[in-house]
Amino acid sequence: MSGELSPIDKAKFVAAKRAAEFVEHGMRVGLGTGSTAAWLVRCLGEMVREEGLRFKGVPTSTRTADLAREMGIEVISLDEARWLDVTIDGADEFNRSLNLIKGGGGALLQEKIVATASDRMVVIADAAKEVETLGAFPLPIELIPFGWQTTQALVEEMLVSMDVMGRNASLRMNGDAPYITDEGNYILDLHLQRIGNPRQLALVLNQMPGVVENGLFIDICDTVVIGHGDGRVLVRDINEGTEEEERLDFVESDNLFADLD
Ligand code: A5P
Repeated sequence: MSGELSPIDKAKFVAAKRAAEFVEHGMRVGLGTGSTAAWLVRCLGEMVREEGLRFKGVPTSTRTADLAREMGIEVISLDEARWLDVTIDGADEFNRSLNLIKGGGGALLQEKIVATASDRMVVIADAAKEVETLGAFPLPIELIPFGWQTTQALVEEMLVSMDVMGRNASLRMNGDAPYITDEGNYILDLHLQRIGNPRQLALVLNQMPGVVENGLFIDICDTVVIGHGDGRVLVRDINEGTEEEERLDFVESDNLFADLD
């Protein structure tokens, strides 16, 4: 089965597999959303089934909640957990300071709430997600549907005074209709190309009426686990200032890969 995985999927898998080692018996764990986080949930599900690992998972989307239950992971709400030991999630981009763009999968609001309520946030990503400067990936912001076109106009006007290269905003669609988040909101993707001051932009966006949250994660992520297609994994920790590389054997597991498309 592993032969059918692309190098990028192998990279995501090994990052997820390595990050699963951060989960210990009895922990409360935030479970991210997206294709890399889905690998994590599968790896953790296997640890639950094969190794008897017991922990409580707090999903960041209905998609992840469904997958976690399917994998045999005990799922609880953030309000039940109150505070988490660790959250492990993917990212669309990360820079040297471990600031992130997230929300490509539309779950940025729950992802930011859950990550912020955690002792530690670990990002899992393939090496292509690392950038010098954030912004090539369109920055998602979550909007209240009421008056969204007015909010979009105000956001575009505000961007004139920001250190960014592009200013186009597009409403995320799902076929012919707007994409709707788990909270019933819209997503606006900001095509900025380069974000010179992510911290300032994140603060200004969140002050705007109609904007619920933005996909810039500033000073939230502690550790990134970077996967490569050949099985190499780099663990970089911003607090410890450490960087460790290892190689994971890409072992086929029928359980893990059986139900992939
Ligand atoms: C979900 O809303 C996003 O924040 C994802 O974490 C991000 O888009 C990474 O997704 P992939 O792992 O699918 O690249």
